[in-house]
Amino acid sequence: MTNKVKIAIFASGSGSNFAALEKACYVGGIPAEVVLLVTDRPDAFVTERAKQAGIPVAAFRPRDFDSKEMYEQAVLKRLQDVQAEWLILAGYMRLIGPVLLGAYPERIVNIHPSLLPSFPGKDAIGQAVAAGVKITGVTVHIVDEGMDTGPILAQCAVHVVEEDPDKTAAAIHKAEHELYAETLKNLFEK
Ligand code: GRF
Repeated sequence: MTNKVKIAIFASGSGSNFAALEKACYVGGIPAEVVLLVTDRPDAFVTERAKQAGIPVAAFRPRDFDSKEMYEQAVLKRLQDVQAEWLILAGYMRLIGPVLLGAYPERIVNIHPSLLPSFPGKDAIGQAVAAGVKITGVTVHIVDEGMDTGPILAQCAVHVVEEDPDKTAAAIHKAEHELYAETLKNLFEK
């Protein structure tokens, strides 16, 4: 039997990716166990999802700390307490700093709703629609010190529904949930 990889998921918002990954781990689709949710927004809906799934939550407001380094040290302590092996970013709206990058070299993964290197940063779906591209997509990549940079692990294309940005967003999110689970499965089975 494969040993389960202990993962911590980082999220700041609604947490649909958190829910998809947690479910995939639970049913054995990813050989991993979600040991912690880390959020920088204690009131984000993702915390409700974690509580319902029985996943411990580490919720720290960065502004309550004197520096980003001290914030990340507090997060790191919680990660070490649960022996997290990989950090999985799923809508975590903050750049990872040197403390966590140093503690988890090449072991932090992010998902981004575009075909990187196109449309990095915020509102990638809106950026793609505004640019008039016909195809956008989803990227899963290893995190480095940049914003949505780092080696690409997997990508998939999604058609832009020109007359309906909401439909485009829905298609992107569906693709995210599938691609993230598949990519982590491949990564952890190696
Ligand atoms: C996703 O589109 C993710 O790629 C981006 O933020 C969004 C989070 O959505 N970084 P959710 O909170 O998982 O629903």
